[in-house]
Parts: sequence; C-alpha cells; structure tokens
Amino acid sequence: MAPGRTGFDQPIYKRLITQKCTNLIKNQVLAMNQTEAIDRAKEHFARLLETQLKRVDQMKAGEDWADYSRLMPIIVGVVGGDGIGPYITKEAVRVLEYVLEKEIKDGRLRLRNITGLTIEERVKAMKALPEETLAALKECHVILKGPLTTPKKGDKWPNLESANVSMRRELDLFANVRPVKVPEKGIDWIFYRENTEGEYVLGSSGINVTDDLAVDFKVITSQGAERIVRLAFEYARKNGIKRVSAVTKANVIKTTDGKFLETARRVAKEYPEIQFDDWFVDIMAAKLVDEKRRKDFKVIVLPNLYGDILTDEAAEFQGGVGTAGSANIGKRYAMFEAIHGSAPRMVEEGRAAFADPASMMRAAVMLLRHIGFVDQASKMEMALDICGLFDKKVILTGRADGATGAQFADYVMETIRDPDLEGRWRSYQK
Ligand code: IPM
Ligand code: MG
Repeated sequence: MAPGRTGFDQPIYKRLITQKCTNLIKNQVLAMNQTEAIDRAKEHFARLLETQLKRVDQMKAGEDWADYSRLMPIIVGVVGGDGIGPYITKEAVRVLEYVLEKEIKDGRLRLRNITGLTIEERVKAMKALPEETLAALKECHVILKGPLTTPKKGDKWPNLESANVSMRRELDLFANVRPVKVPEKGIDWIFYRENTEGEYVLGSSGINVTDDLAVDFKVITSQGAERIVRLAFEYARKNGIKRVSAVTKANVIKTTDGKFLETARRVAKEYPEIQFDDWFVDIMAAKLVDEKRRKDFKVIVLPNLYGDILTDEAAEFQGGVGTAGSANIGKRYAMFEAIHGSAPRMVEEGRAAFADPASMMRAAVMLLRHIGFVDQASKMEMALDICGLFDKKVILTGRADGATGAQFADYVMETIRDPDLEGRWRSYQK
C-alpha cells in the first residue's frame, strides 16, 4: 500500500466507486425517464379511452336507418380516387348513368362528383379526410368510391391515416359487406366485416412508450360487436340462409375477441332457426381452401382485421380482389367501393385504361340495391355475370393485349340492352 493512503484512496477503488456512482445515477435517470414515459403513455391511453367511451355513448343513443324511398333526390357522391381509380370509376359511372337514365331525368337521383380526396390533395391538407371534403360527403346519401392510396411508414407520402379507415369511422359505416361467389365451385359466401373498431379504430393512435417499446390498441365494444352480428343474422334470416359463422382468435386475444364471440353467441340465441358456429381465424383461413368443407359456409361475421385478411383470400377464388366489390353500411350513410388498391404501377406503365372496372361496377350494383333500385341492380348484375363470368367476349388482361375498361363498359351496356337479358342469364345457371 502506498504510504499515507487508506484502502479506499487507492486508484483502483476510486475507479470502482466512481463507476458504481455513475451506474447508480444512470439507473436513477433511467427510472425517472421510465416513470415519465409511463406517465405520458397513461395520459395518452386516458385520452383514447375518452374517445372510445364517447363513441359507445353515440352508439347507445343510436339513430334510425335512412329511408331512401323518402329522399328526393337521392344524392350519390362519386369519388374517383387515386391511381387507376378515376379510370375504373368513370366506366362504372357510365353504366350507372345508363341504367338510371330515367331516374336521373326525373330528378329522383343525382350523381355528384366529390373532389379533395386524391393523395396529393390529402397531403396538401395534411389530413386523411380534409374538412370540406368530409362536409361534402355528408351532403350525399350514398357514395361510390374508387381506391385511395393508403400511406405507410417509409413510402414517399407523410404517414397519414388511411382515408378509407377515416371515412368509415367518420360516417360510422360499421358494416363492411363483401360477397364472394363462385357458382361452379359451390362458393356463395357473404362476409360481414366489422368496420369501425378492432385494430383499426386506434390504428394511427398507437404509442412508442420508449425507443424500444411500441404499443398499439385493439378495441371491441358491446354495441359495436352487437350491431354487426345482428346485421349478419338479419341478412341470413331475410334470405333464408341457415348458417352464420363467427371468426375470432378468442383463444389468444381473450378480452376483445372474447367480447366479440360472447356477443355473437348471445345474439345467435335470438335466431334459433339459424345454425351458429365459431372458428379461429387461422383455421378459418385454412378451411376456405378446403374444397369439401368450404361450401358449407354461408354468412361469416368477424372483427375488422380478420375480415380484411379473409376477404382478400376469399376474393381470390372468384378471380382476385379486382373482381370484388364491397359495401360499407351505416345507418345514415353508405359507401360502396372496390376492395383492391389503386395500382399506381399500372398508371406509371401507361396501362390505366386497361384496368378492370368490374369491381367498381359490382360496387355500383350493391349501391343500387341498397337504395332500393332493385330492378336496375339486377339488370346490371346479370350483365356483369354474363360479360365477366360466362360469355366473356371482351377480355381484360390489364395490358394492351386485352380490352380497355371502356370496351368492357360498352359490352356491359350492350348486354343490358338485350331484351332477353334475364333468359340469357338463366341459361347459365345450373
Ligand atoms: C380494404 C383495404 C383497406 C383496409 C386499406 C386500404 C386501409 O385493404 O378495404 O380491405 O385495410 O380496410
Ligand atoms: Mg383489405
């Protein structure tokens, strides 16, 4: 030992003590930071809970279903959207104007173009749904909407919330109804996807608690689950369908999916003539490709994200998402859209005119049916079946070696004009 030094004076001990102190301070700072981070997260969570409880109150207050037979004129808002959207929407509108010629002339219905929703316009306003556009949408009764670009982390756009998701929430379009039909394979499904809750409602309100910890939130409410399940059962009852299946992952996501499932079971008891069963989403994804079992499914009701995934899978059997339309239904408003994206690459490569407008036309059929124009809807649907599934005289390939969307629309209108449309359509049904 060096003379005059006590044991702890030695450099080695000094170093150790300094290190210990630094660690202590570091840990303390870390603990302080953590407490602050948790406090911040708690406040954030509290605010989210307030918004969700407000939504519950609104659902409890309820409102009546719109009565389209009393509206004069019915205003149909048309949103072209991004990418191939304006191209395919234009063709769908041409067919709509054709089947609604009389109603438009009589002032019973009006088509209205809604602007402000392209990705460029949304980015300019830095809003998923610019205020004036939302106000304009609320002045319509139903909406026909082309695909809208959804920004995601890392692409060239600011990471705005999806306009689709925002519109579904703002207009309270709680039911996303997606039919999938492949007659020759015995597939006749209709999906009732919950559209305003689940992983989506707070999908842009997750929190990075610290640099290392990210948390998102999933929300299911009794009211939200009940209204979608009820709509699915009502559809089954009205259409003489004897089976409704619910899909969750309630074995793992116990609280929210548990509530959805429990609600479905409770509502099912009010429909004793309809068989009710429930499936986990993983096995349901498998059963949809099981040729022996899948024919048995009829009405399928499910929370938002599972519905998003399974409906893309299901549409694939019918010829891909490009062939499917989807209805977003609320009590006051309803919006009808294609379920595919905006295919920017087709536009970049100069192929937009060759995009298949069938999905938008199917969406338009659902719109017509929803507002009670059943004859016009049937005509358009029969023509779409004949042109797209059976006769197939005009084939779209998405490229210049195939027909254009405009040629397909002409073909559909020509088919609608056929006085024996129904007979022709029947001849294909076995
Ligand atoms: C759909 C789409 C949307 C969704 C996207 C574009 C936000 O995939 O309509 O299924 O996830 O709901
Ligand atoms: Mg989807």
